[in-house]
Amino acid sequence: MTASDLTLSPIPFAPPQIVEADVEAVADVLRGGWLSTGPVCSQLEADLAERIGAPHVVAVSSCTTALQIAVRSLHLAPGSRVGVPTWTFVASASSVVHAGCVPVLLDVDADTLNVSPAAVEAAIAEGLDALMVVHFAGRTVDPAVLALAEAAGIPVIEDAAHALGASDDRGPVSGVGTVGACFSFYATKNLTSGEGGALATHDEELAQYARSQRLHGLSNDAWGRYRIGATPEYDVVEPGLKANLPDLLAALALSQLQRFDAMQARRREVVQRYRATISELDSCRIVPTTADDRSADHLFVVLLPEGLDRAEVVAGMAAAGIGTSVHFRPVHTFSWFRDHAPLGPTGVGTADRLAGRALSLPLHAGLTDVEADRVLEALVGTLP
Ligand SMILES: Cc1ncc(COP(=O)(O)O)c(C=O)c1O
Repeated sequence: MTASDLTLSPIPFAPPQIVEADVEAVADVLRGGWLSTGPVCSQLEADLAERIGAPHVVAVSSCTTALQIAVRSLHLAPGSRVGVPTWTFVASASSVVHAGCVPVLLDVDADTLNVSPAAVEAAIAEGLDALMVVHFAGRTVDPAVLALAEAAGIPVIEDAAHALGASDDRGPVSGVGTVGACFSFYATKNLTSGEGGALATHDEELAQYARSQRLHGLSNDAWGRYRIGATPEYDVVEPGLKANLPDLLAALALSQLQRFDAMQARRREVVQRYRATISELDSCRIVPTTADDRSADHLFVVLLPEGLDRAEVVAGMAAAGIGTSVHFRPVHTFSWFRDHAPLGPTGVGTADRLAGRALSLPLHAGLTDVEADRVLEALVGTLP
């Protein structure tokens, strides 16, 4: 059989990796009588905190709400300017908007698609009140970016949606030296709860703020109010979101966390297999250009040859039964942001130049070598 044999099973882009233990963990919560945020969520927070070395982890409903809470915690004046790389999911920029601030869209580095230090430096010189960095595809941002913000006294929020399991000179991504790191447990992420997220921080005050903000700003959560013998009183000092992570979903993430290392190890093997073949091709470039053994290996992104129609490659891969995705359409190309989000002083030339060329290949812990080779064969077959 060859890879072009359509009787072969499809290879989806990023299906969730669910084992019987996950099903049992969720079923246990269903049987247990407490579905919303409670002891299972607390256990997830404690286990995650221990794994990444963060003193505080607050589980929430999504990375988006973690980002919203992190930006709100700065209590910036309406209209304050927050730098955001344009090469990200729209949630990074919209969380700035929802806090009444203005996202200033910044260009990226061509080798990593992470925010470019030069773009950050120029934006700081022009005037920034805060900076959001995105560890794209699981590769952490250039340390120069954090140093620039620190030197300017600008708070940094880490969009770590792709970066659970990643580390840099600071250690595992956990919000060291920043406001905090915001993780996603969305269905396609390295660790999933279906929908969910968490804010990791080294700032106790922020952790308390996040615990209150994830539940309307209440001073006492539902577990604290409804369990037998608990005190039912609460206060609201600042209206919050409804962004708690129910135990029903936390149970899935907690179960997945038990085998996270094994899942990450398999991702790394697939990445190495892809790299070995694709780095030999003249027509394609891998992002990040150099392998990084501290990456979370969330995405495997190639830059297709200039001038090649990406839609044709996507269609060719689909015809071979292979799912692909695009990360990302730059934020400044969306109508609303075009009209409401200024660009940084260096412009977004690199993002514009590369926007039509990025393609994400299937990457997940369940991908076999045979499937990875089918992906490679199909990719090579669609290239000129
Ligand atoms: C870079 C980035 N930031 C934020 C998010 C939002 O994550 P969530 O769906 O958990 O809100 C995503 C989701 O894919 C993302 O890729």
